[in-house]
Amino acid sequence: MMMQIRWAVVFVVLGLLQGCVTPNHVYLTWRGDTSTTMVVNYQAPGPNGASRVYYDTEPRAGDKGAYRFRAEGASGHLPGDDDGRWVHHVGLENLAPDTTYYFTVEAPYRYTEHSFKTMPGDDSPIRFINGGDMSILPKEARLVKRAASFTPDFVLLGGDLAYENGDLGNKVFWDIWLSRWSKYMTLANRSLVPIVAAIGNHEVNDGGGSPVERAPFYFTYFDQGGQSHFSLRFGANLAIVVLDSDHIDSHESQAPWLAERLGELRDYPFLAAAYHVPLYPSNGGFDERKSVAGRTWWQPAFEEFGLDVAFEHHDHTLKRTFPLRDGAPSETGVVYLGDGCMGMIRREIREPRPAYLAEASGTSHFWVVDVSATEMRCQAVDEDGAVVDAVNLSLAPSAAPPKS
Ligand SMILES: [Fe+2]
Ligand SMILES: [Fe+2]
Repeated sequence: MMMQIRWAVVFVVLGLLQGCVTPNHVYLTWRGDTSTTMVVNYQAPGPNGASRVYYDTEPRAGDKGAYRFRAEGASGHLPGDDDGRWVHHVGLENLAPDTTYYFTVEAPYRYTEHSFKTMPGDDSPIRFINGGDMSILPKEARLVKRAASFTPDFVLLGGDLAYENGDLGNKVFWDIWLSRWSKYMTLANRSLVPIVAAIGNHEVNDGGGSPVERAPFYFTYFDQGGQSHFSLRFGANLAIVVLDSDHIDSHESQAPWLAERLGELRDYPFLAAAYHVPLYPSNGGFDERKSVAGRTWWQPAFEEFGLDVAFEHHDHTLKRTFPLRDGAPSETGVVYLGDGCMGMIRREIREPRPAYLAEASGTSHFWVVDVSATEMRCQAVDEDGAVVDAVNLSLAPSAAPPKS
């Protein structure tokens, strides 16, 4: 009953906020090389069709004429929605690796200058945050703010972000989510942190139709190349495959692509996957259909190509499995980390407790992941900044480069 009252209050407040949130969001994604490209996504009440970013390696205080470079992009609306909001996507290319760029965007009113830093092209260390199942509850804001204090290079999100359920009537959820993101995940130099987003069940509606009609916000707001599964490389040490746990595309339909892509990426020192529904759940049932499908269609490729870690979500808990090979502990197995508890109401671990869990609790958290040439260190951090779990994944001896 208390929970229902709390939600009722949230919805009343959201109703009051509807219409008084200005859609002036600016945020970053990738659809290509993370060291030489960036996609600037921004939302504005116009201008019709003119998507443009002005950028430079020196700050120019938002004076559009002073920036040395400009790029054009494309714009559109949420499908079936025309509230005057334009969602712009501008891809910047031929950037220098590991370099700070300053930019401003074309809009009917003056935008503040922001900056971003491209990923390194070499084996420099990388830090990223992973989390999912966020919502617009107060805890989400505290966790995002805490995550920003770790100054990540990017954030890997595992679905169930604003909980709008793909419903255009819940657009204000995203306005609040993006406003908070801008407020809390903007670093020194007004530097924005790129988002890598997997899709979750709460990004999708039941209305049928095309992928963009079924997951309107996920595909319209986040330009990641137009697919719900893709891969990205980060410097010389890390590659990540982002997968769709049967929200738009089935596990089975992605299996050939997954095997081919992991085969191409297998020489990276560290290989990770990110998706929403866990193969090894901590709260949900082991025999839940999507978990079974993940173990059936994806797990063989994870194990064949030496995936180091899979970031799972959806169960609203903190979880770390033993390294697993076909469900049993193995030194050469895959570690499954999760389970999406970055703001949404947390859940407890299912009883009887699954034997594959090395650590699990109903603790809100995010993962801070530091990747070097020899180690991938994953730390779960709670909203107060306390480290509540950690695991170090070292380069397997067999995978180490030969000594000269
Ligand atoms: Fe969730
Ligand atoms: Fe979920």
